[in-house]
Amino acid sequence: MCPIADPARSPRGADLASGVAGSHRKTPPSVVQGSSLGKCIVVIGTQWGDEGKGKIVDLLTDRAHAVVRFQGGHNAGHTLVLNGHKTILHLVPAGILRDGVLCLIGNGVVVSPPALFEEVDTLVAQGIPVFDRLRLSPACPLILPSHIALDQARELAWGTRAIGTTGRGIGPAYEDKVARRALRIADLFHRERLATKLGEALDFHNFLLKHYFRTATVSFRETLDLYLGYAERLERLVSDVGKTLKDLRDRGANILFEGAQGSLLDVDLGTYPFVTSSNTTAGGAATGSGFGPCYIDQVLGIVKAYTTRVGGGPFPTELLDGMGEHLAVRGSEFGATTGRKRRCGWFDLVALKRAIINNSVSSLGITKLDVLDELDTIRVCVAYEGPSGRLEVAPTGAEDYAAQEPVYEDLPGWHCSTLGLRSKESLPRNAQAYIDRIESLAGVPVSLISTGAEREETIVLEHPFAPPLPIGTGA
Ligand code: GDP
Ligand code: IMO
Ligand code: MG
Repeated sequence: MCPIADPARSPRGADLASGVAGSHRKTPPSVVQGSSLGKCIVVIGTQWGDEGKGKIVDLLTDRAHAVVRFQGGHNAGHTLVLNGHKTILHLVPAGILRDGVLCLIGNGVVVSPPALFEEVDTLVAQGIPVFDRLRLSPACPLILPSHIALDQARELAWGTRAIGTTGRGIGPAYEDKVARRALRIADLFHRERLATKLGEALDFHNFLLKHYFRTATVSFRETLDLYLGYAERLERLVSDVGKTLKDLRDRGANILFEGAQGSLLDVDLGTYPFVTSSNTTAGGAATGSGFGPCYIDQVLGIVKAYTTRVGGGPFPTELLDGMGEHLAVRGSEFGATTGRKRRCGWFDLVALKRAIINNSVSSLGITKLDVLDELDTIRVCVAYEGPSGRLEVAPTGAEDYAAQEPVYEDLPGWHCSTLGLRSKESLPRNAQAYIDRIESLAGVPVSLISTGAEREETIVLEHPFAPPLPIGTGA
């Protein structure tokens, strides 16, 4: 925990939330530092998700005051392992296990109240004071049961062309947001307004479910009662997230933005249409939290030492042989949200280069190095060879991946355990060479290397945050 607050009085983050919009605490925080002292860092996945973002965000909260989710919903599954205890978070930011870290859910996140409270209740049952640490924007669009029904009905109807979604209603909820007919968290606090908007939404959704997909419809009354049942608890959590972040920044706080999914699943920039329905890239941190882009200092890109993908879509370095199976088993590559087996393949520098451009990645965190420990040879895809020649940066649409063949550079394995190693010097020479080669090919410095699932099993070459100074709590 970083030495800034008065933990004897209250958790650091809750204190930091005091005096800012939406908080019911009375005491305004004292402004004791200038705005340039803290840093705002966006952590994003540079592949197709599941890069280990949750583990890295949790680790970095030792020097952070706030963690913000800005896109996606409970399609995310972020795994934190602390002293052998595994916590999988879907909506709640990965700062929640740290005393004194404020966790924020920004307006860009689509929220299912039943999913949120299932997660909150599980954490509360473990003794985590979630109601002190968590705030969310009243502008978050709601995921309705009918969105889930539509997501699943569409996947079924598409058959072999299915995206392989998580079935959580993410796509249909974002469709309604863009079509300007979404219900938002703020609507839950106005019974009549909620009933009117829900009635209109369900008229449309049920028409599609009944007449287009020929499947069961969703009850207006049951949905209304269910969602009204969450209103009181949600009202205690709402806050003006953008303003909270600005106030924290002005006081020198260190802020982490926790990306969900991965850069290649971005709805605009990924392997469209095999993508999720939000902007997963770093630019989404600003629009999805209401905190302007010039307040952001750095982007930390998380990349696995190999590649995985869940669901359909192009994957040039995919291994459909025994090696793919080895990576899946050795890396426990089963989805944290749906339990689906992840597709596995070699490290893809061509895809990484696209992510570096799309996110302005300032440094890389390489995860799951230990999974490669037993291999004789490790391959890195350095280019695609396709009908129109050689590509060194990945294309941005699924069709453009057709007939692209990976061109590999082979590196020697190291045949010894790197599990839990905490300094680069202690890594076997070939493992160091693998990291150095990725760094030089990517043209971006590696600041973190993860050597195990546990928080502490990490080589911190350069912590993105300097140790924070006291910023005053006003408590
Ligand atoms: P996220 O969605 O990006 O947060 O990643 P997930 O949590 O879905 O998947 C990453 C998985 O790898 C989780 O099971 C983590 O506990 C695990 N993990 C993270 N870093 C490492 C590592 O360096 N080594 C190993 N062996 N496992 C890791
Ligand atoms: P985290 O945050 C990996 C994938 C789904 C599917 C596509 C669209 O844990 O990295 P959606 O339900 O979002 O409409 O599905 O996106 N997908 C993920 N893959 N990790 C995730 O999240 C994902 N969230 C969605 O498998 O291919
Ligand atoms: Mg995941």
